[in-house]
Amino acid sequence: MNTETELAAPMDALFEEARKAAENSYSPYSKFKVGAALRLTNGEIVTGTNVENTSFGLTICAERSALVQAVSRFGPGIRVEAIAVTNLNESASPPCGACRQVLAEFVLPDAPVVFPFAGGMRTMAFSELMPVAFDMKLK
Ligand code: THU
Repeated sequence: MNTETELAAPMDALFEEARKAAENSYSPYSKFKVGAALRLTNGEIVTGTNVENTSFGLTICAERSALVQAVSRFGPGIRVEAIAVTNLNESASPPCGACRQVLAEFVLPDAPVVFPFAGGMRTMAFSELMPVAFDMKLK
């Protein structure tokens, strides 16, 4: 197995977890079913889906849903080492800006983020996706 295949297989498995999570989406307003899967440095995989609300603005994205679940289950020390996001609508699904900012708190800069984009799959390092997150510690 070459290095690319070795890297691709776990990301495929994570992507499949994201797809399964999307099946639980509560999205009666947009009908856009999103799933996210986070692989933590402790080896656990935690998933989430989008949960919409009639007030629209209170909708929670799949990525934040997964992150909140990860902290709730494993505590504040978690670190995310890989992320997969997808949707059941055959659309692109890069994490939105708000989710990038929230994820930045717990995601390792080199963590691969895989998502559907431009008719294929795209993988980017988290630091490429969110190069300058807000951080009060920054000088
Ligand atoms: N959504 C996500 O779950 N993740 C994103 O990164 C962007 C958008 C959800 C929110 C809403 O329920 C639906 O997709 C349409 O915007």
